[in-house]
Amino acid sequence: MKRLDGKTALITGAARGIGLAFAEAYLREGARVALADIDIARARTEATRLGPDAFAVEMDVTRQDSIDGAVCATLTQFGQIDILINNAAIFTAAPIAEITRHDYDRCFEINVAGALFTMQAVARHMIERGGGGKIINMASQAGRRGEALVAVYCASKAAIISLTQSAGLNLIQHGINVNAIAPGVVDGEHWDGVDAFFAKYENKAPGQKKREVGAAVPFGRMGVAQDLTGMAVFLASSEADYIVAQTYNVDGGQWMS
Ligand SMILES: NC(=O)c1ccc[n+]([C@@H]2O[C@H](COP(=O)([O-])OP(=O)(O)OC[C@H]3O[C@@H](n4cnc5c(N)ncnc54)[C@H](O)[C@@H]3O)[C@@H](O)[C@H]2O)c1
Repeated sequence: MKRLDGKTALITGAARGIGLAFAEAYLREGARVALADIDIARARTEATRLGPDAFAVEMDVTRQDSIDGAVCATLTQFGQIDILINNAAIFTAAPIAEITRHDYDRCFEINVAGALFTMQAVARHMIERGGGGKIINMASQAGRRGEALVAVYCASKAAIISLTQSAGLNLIQHGINVNAIAPGVVDGEHWDGVDAFFAKYENKAPGQKKREVGAAVPFGRMGVAQDLTGMAVFLASSEADYIVAQTYNVDGGQWMS
C-alpha cells in the first residue's frame, strides 16, 4: 500500500522545479496528479513523460477564469481533488528605491492572490464533496524575515505564512488541513534567476551568489527539489491529519543558523 493510493492532486507551477519534483513523488506514492502551469507546453511534455496518471492543465493563477477552468478540467479528468499544492510563484528583487508598482502588483498577483484564489476554488470543491482534503502552500524562509534587496518577494511569502494560518483555522472544520513548507535555497531554474538578480545588484560574477548561499547552509549545500518531497508527501498523507495551520522549514538548517 502506497501512502497516497487513490488520491488525486492538483499542483500549480508543476512544469518544472519543485512542483515537478512534487508531482513525481506523488505519482510514486500512488496518486494521480494534475500538473497545472502557465507554461502548458512544458507541462504537457512532462506529463507525457510521467505517464497516464499525470495530466497537464493550463492555468494562469492571476486569472480567475483560468483557475476555475483548471479546477474544472482536473475534476473532469479525475472526478475529485484530494490534495492541492499552491506552488506557482515568481521571484523579484530590487532595492527599496527601485521597486516598481508593476513588479509589486505582478508578484502579489501570482504569489499571494494566485495562491488564495486557487485555495478557495479547490476548498469549495472539497467542502461540497465533504471528504476533507490537504492543502499545502509554498512559503519560504524569505517569508520569515526581510532581506535588504528582496522586500516584495519576502512580503509575498510572509503573506503565504499568514494565509496558511487563517485558512488552516477556517477550513479544519471541514476536515481540510492547510499547512505550508518553507524551503531555504533550492537549486534550479528559479535560483538561476535569483543569482542573476544578485549579480546585478551586488556586482557578483554569475554563479557566485549560489556558491555563497550554498556554503552558508549548515547542511553544507544548497537544497535540491527532491529534498522537499518527503515533507510534501507527509503533509498530504493521513499521517498529517492532526497538523493544522503550520509552516515547516525544510532548509538544511538555514533558518536556525
Ligand atoms: N527555489 C528556491 O530556492 C525556493 C526557496 C523557497 C521557496 N521557493 C518556492 O517554491 C515554489 C517553487 O519554486 P521553484 O524553485 O520550483 O520555482 P520555478 O520558478 O522553477 O517554477 C515556478 C513554476 O511556476 C510557474 N508559473 C509562474 N507564473 C505562473 C502563473 N501565473 N500561473 C501558473 N503557473 C505559473 C512557472 O511556469 C514555473 O513552472 C515557489 O513558490 C517558490 O517561491 C523556492
